[in-house]
Amino acid sequence: MRDIVVVGAAETKFGKLEASFREIAVEAATAAIADSGVERQDIEALYLGTFSPGTFIHQEHAAPLIASMLGLPHVPTSRTENACASGSSAFLQGVMAVASGIYDTVLVVGAEKMTATPIDETTQILAEAADWENETLAGATFPSLYALMARRHMHEFGTTRDQLSAVAIKNHCNAVRNPYAQFHKEITADDIAKSVMIADPLTLYDCSPVTDGAAAVVVTTRERALDLPGRSIKILGFGQASDSLSLFRRQDMTCLVAAQKASERAYKMAGIGPRDVSFAEVHDCFTIAEIVATEDLGFFERGEGGPAAASGATAIGGAKPVNPSGGLKGKGHPVGATGVSQIVEAVFQLRGTAGDRQVPNPEIGLTHNVGGSGASCAVTLLGKAA
Ligand code: COA
Repeated sequence: MRDIVVVGAAETKFGKLEASFREIAVEAATAAIADSGVERQDIEALYLGTFSPGTFIHQEHAAPLIASMLGLPHVPTSRTENACASGSSAFLQGVMAVASGIYDTVLVVGAEKMTATPIDETTQILAEAADWENETLAGATFPSLYALMARRHMHEFGTTRDQLSAVAIKNHCNAVRNPYAQFHKEITADDIAKSVMIADPLTLYDCSPVTDGAAAVVVTTRERALDLPGRSIKILGFGQASDSLSLFRRQDMTCLVAAQKASERAYKMAGIGPRDVSFAEVHDCFTIAEIVATEDLGFFERGEGGPAAASGATAIGGAKPVNPSGGLKGKGHPVGATGVSQIVEAVFQLRGTAGDRQVPNPEIGLTHNVGGSGASCAVTLLGKAA
């Protein structure tokens, strides 16, 4: 495989935005191209990660729309849908196209506009990424599916309410330091205790919010990046895996096998292990998901993710910083944009430009992006280009 780098990275502010889907996608992409220094005529293909623009904003066939609005006439375009892992899946399509030698420079965009839809419709649209016949029709939503995982994790390992709260408190605290984040509001255990129950044991503050946002990166070869002004960050390894769409068909609901497999593949490609990772951006769509992720990725033994979160080990100054951006919980979760946004944050951290949320001296960053209740997962390892 050729040496591949991310040479440009940018994102919009996340939250309830006035701007439309196409406007935020173009805003992020324009900023990423400017950051890279690549000329538009040198971009050979566009990969768009988006989950459901057809239902959220009545716009399918979105990839050529964004390419034409960006002034990239006649480039090949593709849209990738893998639920909440759509962004990372699009990213890896772009990486593999450059790695194969088909293209030298591609643009990857992730975008979703979710807040134009009433919340009951949004919940329904999201739930269509679960097993429609066996879960969604029976009333399951993503908060309720992750609530089942949380209850089982509590039963098997003694994970506590306070440990779930530690994840939410940390990620809101990190998001305060992130100008792109949806929430700039610290929360306390007392706020969580008083907040509304969404799906027992998950309260409002255990859930990622409904968000508009877009993120974009320019991917090229290390050789080509030598002539560009943007500071490049190397792709060290990646892995993807899938699992049954429905939670009830899995042997164990206290881990995500797709995340374990995806990370094993990424570590093997990079020739490193979990200990070598300086920080991680993980898919904390619900607080329990961050605890499970830190176990699946091998940062902590199974059952130790909760105590580790409560101990401060995953804080920005801790032994294994997790979600310095604020994660999905604090930064927001515009589903198709999330995986690309995680790559953007890893680039900022490795360049040392993450401002008040900067992890001290990071060498290697990991991103972990999950679709649905764990039916798809993509893990990427990034490091400073030598
Ligand atoms: N975390 C923290 N605060 C939140 C929040 C969240 N997840 N969601 C909303 N809020 C805040 C709002 O900012 C607002 O605060 P304000 O009154 O100070 O302005 C308040 O709570 C009410 O917001 P509202 O938009 O009315 O909430 P809602 O009831 O419509 O939505 C949820 C709350 C939890 C149902 C919604 O965020 C949700 O569905 N989250 C899960 C999304 C999901 O499943 N994603 C896919 C994961 S696989």
